[in-house]
Amino acid sequence: MPFEVNPLGDRFAAEIVGIDLARELPDDAFAAVRAAWFDAGVVVFRDQRLPPGRQVAFSRRFGDLIVHVMQQFLLPGHPEILLISNRKHPDGTPMGFEDAGRYWHSDISYDERPALGSHLYAVEIPPEGGDTLFADMRHALKTLPDDLRRRIEGRRARHSYTRNHRRNETVAGGRPAFSAEQRDRLNDVSHPMTRRLEDTGEEALFVNPGFTFAIDDMDEAESDDLLAALFEHSTREAFLYTHEWRRGDLLCWDNRSVMHRAILYDPAETRHMHRTTIAGLRPV
Ligand code: SIN
Repeated sequence: MPFEVNPLGDRFAAEIVGIDLARELPDDAFAAVRAAWFDAGVVVFRDQRLPPGRQVAFSRRFGDLIVHVMQQFLLPGHPEILLISNRKHPDGTPMGFEDAGRYWHSDISYDERPALGSHLYAVEIPPEGGDTLFADMRHALKTLPDDLRRRIEGRRARHSYTRNHRRNETVAGGRPAFSAEQRDRLNDVSHPMTRRLEDTGEEALFVNPGFTFAIDDMDEAESDDLLAALFEHSTREAFLYTHEWRRGDLLCWDNRSVMHRAILYDPAETRHMHRTTIAGLRPV
């Protein structure tokens, strides 16, 4: 099955043209799509008609799917789909995560097995705003000044979901508090600050402002300063791609090599997305 890969950003991100994901891809086309995705870091398939079961089946070909800890935001009948949405139930309660990812992060980096990739399908999008920004963490590592590179060499940093969530729990309209069962699933973890991509052998910086809160065995002030310098470096304009959504987009990002951030939109408009999240390996 021939398809085209057209670059979108200057250095990473691409559009894959000529694939209808409503149909099962033959193995050779799937392998080529997989390679194109990991090479570009972010790929979009436009104008897709993807019922939830098809999205789940496509994502599952890349690996086990993660059922998100925020069970109240899972699509009924399809627990592998997390709703990123500002739609409300008839009683006024939120259907999905309205404020998901409004800070730079890599999905599920707070788990022992962070997400390999995420697939986000645009069911309904606002006429303006609600873009998603991506930062290329392979390029961030390649261009890291020598002194910063030396300071992170061989080091590990801690990631936490609960710290980030707690910040959002308290704001008006913010996140619901965790149940005891949710809290039990969420222990902080330590990961290497750089990681090797299993497929290509490339290396990427693996820290993010959303979930990474401290460098192991380092004084708190020094750790805060160093993380701030790394975050500042990796989110420089030259390393970014901005995805402007169209309805029917399936956007796929590799959480090992990019981090992302959602941009605000007019809350009077609707933004409703289906996310599937593929489990990865423990970073090395
Ligand atoms: C996410 O972090 O998965 C959500 C991204 C978005 O809503 O653009």
